[in-house]
Amino acid sequence: MSDLHRFGISIDERLLASFDELISRKGYQNRSEAVRDLIRNTLVEDQWNRGDEETVGTLTLVYDHHTRDLADKLTEQQHHHHDAIVSALHVHLDAHHCLEVIVVKGKAREVRHLADELIGTKGVKHGKLVTTTTGKGIL
Ligand code: NI
Repeated sequence: MSDLHRFGISIDERLLASFDELISRKGYQNRSEAVRDLIRNTLVEDQWNRGDEETVGTLTLVYDHHTRDLADKLTEQQHHHHDAIVSALHVHLDAHHCLEVIVVKGKAREVRHLADELIGTKGVKHGKLVTTTTGKGIL
């Protein structure tokens, strides 16, 4: 682990009380760990917003496989972007619905584009991209 640094923060009393209430609900042991997580989240978000950074994430899709040609379309799109797709998990949720979790990797801009394309495909009922980091460079 790299050297730990301590620093002080001036903060409004009400804001601190709200923060303490939040971190208590979330089960943090202390403010330091909560602040570290906030910083990490902000850095990861910034990495995604810069567009050209190498990133990693997961894309979750729920769709009805009876929708005409939908499963084929989603497979076709994934093959088209195969460089950005690390792995895919398919779960048959019930008689109609499929859940796919796709691990995506690559430049943030391209991964977002791929996610938007898949989520926006007609018949996809819900989709969400969870953005995280390769950990290189910022954490
Ligand atoms: Ni299925």
